[in-house]
Amino acid sequence: MSQPARLVVLVSGSGTNLQALLDASADPAYGARVVAVGADREDIEGLARAERAGVPTFVRKLSDFETREGWDAALTTVVERFEPDLVVSAGFMKLLSQEFLDRFLTLNTHPALCPAFPGMHGPRDALDYGVRVTGATLFVVDAGVDTGPIVAQVPVEVAEDDDVASLHERIKTAERAMLVDAVGRIAREGIAVEGRRVRIGGGRR
Ligand code: GRF
Repeated sequence: MSQPARLVVLVSGSGTNLQALLDASADPAYGARVVAVGADREDIEGLARAERAGVPTFVRKLSDFETREGWDAALTTVVERFEPDLVVSAGFMKLLSQEFLDRFLTLNTHPALCPAFPGMHGPRDALDYGVRVTGATLFVVDAGVDTGPIVAQVPVEVAEDDDVASLHERIKTAERAMLVDAVGRIAREGIAVEGRRVRIGGGRR
């Protein structure tokens, strides 16, 4: 069997998506393992989850750098050290530089069905709009906000009595399953991205 795909996961908060990847990769048949977890802030549960799993962590705080470019370069350098096949931005609250994206194939999850409701408040915006179905999207990160080529999507029904928290929790449950499934298939079968079309099973990681 070939070596498992090397994942670097970036987090800014609770890290439940990260935990789902850590749990899945405990099985060697999954085909991927988390080799490092990075964050843009300290003292978050996402980092604690990595430490409990014995996975190396790093923090690069924007406020520690004089310029945004300096932070971008530092993040690229530290991620490069772990030689990832794939970077997963899982609740990471910073935009990534073009140089970073040119260097690493990077996936992100968004708690809405793209192209609807991009940005920081996907569940709230879906609720305010009154849609009956929303969901989560896994996409290849590009220069825009939640605009990249779509890898996978999962629908979630909006309940009459949902508030933002209850809706987001249900979306996150579906989102984690989608993420684990798609990342595993990409690790085992490869991915091909042509324009906006993404094909898992393209043979290349
Ligand atoms: C997820 O819903 C993700 O889509 C959004 O932020 C949430 C992160 O959750 N960007 P967690 O940190 O993985 O628990």
